[in-house]
Amino acid sequence: MEPFRIKSVEPIAFPTADERAQALRAAGFNQFRLDASQITIDMLTDSGTGAMSAAQWSALLNGDESYAGARSFRRFEKVLRELTGFTEVLPVHQGRAAERIVLSCLLKPGQVSVSNTHFDTTRAHVELAGGKAVDLPAPDGGNVDIEALRAQFAIENVACVVLTVTNNGGGGRPVSMQNIRDARAVCNEFGVPLILDAARFAENAYLITQLDPQYANSSPRAVAEEMFRLADVCWASLKKDGIANIGGMIVMNDPDLAARCRMELIAYEGFPTYGGLAGRDLEALAQGLLEVTDPAYLRYRAETARWFGEELKSAGLTVLQPTGCHAVYADASALFPHIPAHKLPANALLCELYLEAGIRASELGTLAFGRVDPAGGPDIPAPHELVRFCLPRRVYTRSHLEYVVEAVARIARRAHTVPGYRIVDQAKALRHFTAELEPDK
Ligand code: F0G
Repeated sequence: MEPFRIKSVEPIAFPTADERAQALRAAGFNQFRLDASQITIDMLTDSGTGAMSAAQWSALLNGDESYAGARSFRRFEKVLRELTGFTEVLPVHQGRAAERIVLSCLLKPGQVSVSNTHFDTTRAHVELAGGKAVDLPAPDGGNVDIEALRAQFAIENVACVVLTVTNNGGGGRPVSMQNIRDARAVCNEFGVPLILDAARFAENAYLITQLDPQYANSSPRAVAEEMFRLADVCWASLKKDGIANIGGMIVMNDPDLAARCRMELIAYEGFPTYGGLAGRDLEALAQGLLEVTDPAYLRYRAETARWFGEELKSAGLTVLQPTGCHAVYADASALFPHIPAHKLPANALLCELYLEAGIRASELGTLAFGRVDPAGGPDIPAPHELVRFCLPRRVYTRSHLEYVVEAVARIARRAHTVPGYRIVDQAKALRHFTAELEPDK
């Protein structure tokens, strides 16, 4: 059960079936275009959507809003130095700012970044720096394929290796400690930096304690400390395992690289002791980073995802298993075999979830990752048609999730009647955020 009790609550909306049908039509059958006030259960993302603790809310009042050298920065810096072992600590407003700063300093045009899976903003910043992003996931979905990684050095000019922990693009599976060590050894051999995209470092550490007998008796905090110390540079969106609504970080030991990053930080984010955040945000993050490795909290995260995955499976979905912590991923093409990839089965499931019960989730299928066929044929499909049901931290109780499971069971019973979708308007890049669609009846 939830290892907390609820002290502050926020009402949720229950739009009627007619209101939902009208809202979805007005949103061009794209859940990103719905207003949050039209949503009953919002599982779009676990990013910035967590509930802060009483200790975090009270830390806000201690925020020191001084432009330079704020006390709140010193607290943030101390917490991150102790957790990660790195001396250089740079605050940023969120993860993608960290990616932009580090990659623009590390990558030269034509160079390659190799990863278990680059998150989409990471990939975008590799490409904006003139580089190429290569994903080499191992079959387990979490680790990087070490042999393929080593082989990449023979054929490309590799500038860095990025391990995304946990692998958000690969079903939220963890990267093992052995895999981090092996990637470290390859980086040493070829003299390139190992970077951790540590957005979900605590969840990765907890899953290591569950999966690796060598760490069965270790605390998640000790595992996290060991993970960080294997890398050269870490960046993170702290909107996930910082359990706050905004924030990010860059940490490293290299003073020269840190100095170059600080120049970018000042130009784009703010003075190096606030980096685009308010002092109160730094306080909430410092406190959240201490809370997030609590074993009872992490056990609740992982067990909630495991239970929810089992329930969705019983309700008729094909669920990616084993589950991780931050989300449960389901295969929409298995539920809708009559909808081909270019008719967007994952978006079809999202639309049904909203029409049925006001639920929002996210699409990881051909709408997000497919490509327009230059020859004018149907879209080139994404490798999978996944729907991601994210679990915001400390927000929804088991009865909220039961409500989602009941809605899914009703949709599964009428799955054969569900239509595919057609895109009527789309942007050139990142089309899923703004595209307008219509049912393909
Ligand atoms: N890296 C990973 C692994 C992420 O999951 C995200 C964001 C980022 C970097 C970028 O961080 O949003 O703070 O700029 N993931 C969110 C999601 C948006 O829904 O998975 P950001």
